[in-house]
Amino acid sequence: MTAQRSMRGDVAVLVPAAGSGVRMGPGAPKALRHLRGEPLLVHALRRVCAAASVAHVVVASPAESVDSCTALLAEFGPIVTIVAGGDSRQASVAAALAAAPDHLEIVLVHDAARALAPASLVEAVAEAVRSGHDAVVPALPVVDTIKQVSPDGRVVATIDRSQLRAIQTPQGFRRSVLTNAHVLAADDLTDDAGLVERMGADVWCIPGDPAAMKITQPFDLAVASLLLGSGQSD
Ligand code: CTP
Ligand code: MG
Repeated sequence: MTAQRSMRGDVAVLVPAAGSGVRMGPGAPKALRHLRGEPLLVHALRRVCAAASVAHVVVASPAESVDSCTALLAEFGPIVTIVAGGDSRQASVAAALAAAPDHLEIVLVHDAARALAPASLVEAVAEAVRSGHDAVVPALPVVDTIKQVSPDGRVVATIDRSQLRAIQTPQGFRRSVLTNAHVLAADDLTDDAGLVERMGADVWCIPGDPAAMKITQPFDLAVASLLLGSGQSD
């Protein structure tokens, strides 16, 4: 084992950041939009790189922004590699996975859009994989009442929320499991654990963290800004 590996741990983190952010409204790609003066991607990477288990990070950036992302992320040094993302989140994760160093057996996938997910959550997910689970997701209880609704707005059913969870990233995998899931992927799904489920493999939940909220719309950006200013986000 090299000195760098023993210092930096056994985990690769893939960061899909190539989305355009349609729901955020007109402007730069979402991962490059600013939150209190810095791009979401920088906020996300700062927290990921603070996790001692993380040996390498591969960012999938918008294809037209690889050079600017490389300059933007230079402060993190050689621990971070930037590749061009794809047309879907799944394609972006696959591109990042192909660039992850082979010797790292634990691979986490973490959306740049969850820019305030703390290093402690990265560590908790990595540790759950290290201790034997092949696929791990952070999960929070659902607080709203959830109803199934028809396209014309009529309520069809009320779902028992006690069995539901809201799933976050980072999601963690034994590398071979994530690789197989992507090879076998037939549909485009919104997370990687979903691909593992389709393979028939078990996915395990650990407690999520409210700070790992997904920043999707301008309202979320405002909430994240307040959170960052409140000292409730490290
Ligand atoms: N993502 C990606 N490549 C894509 C699409 C999405 O790497 N082709 C990334 C996004 O950058 C984000 C994460 O996947 O970090 C989750 O996607 P989402 O929150 O949906 O972001 P966007 O796709 O950018 O937003 P929208 O769906 O509103 O356009
Ligand atoms: Mg999207």
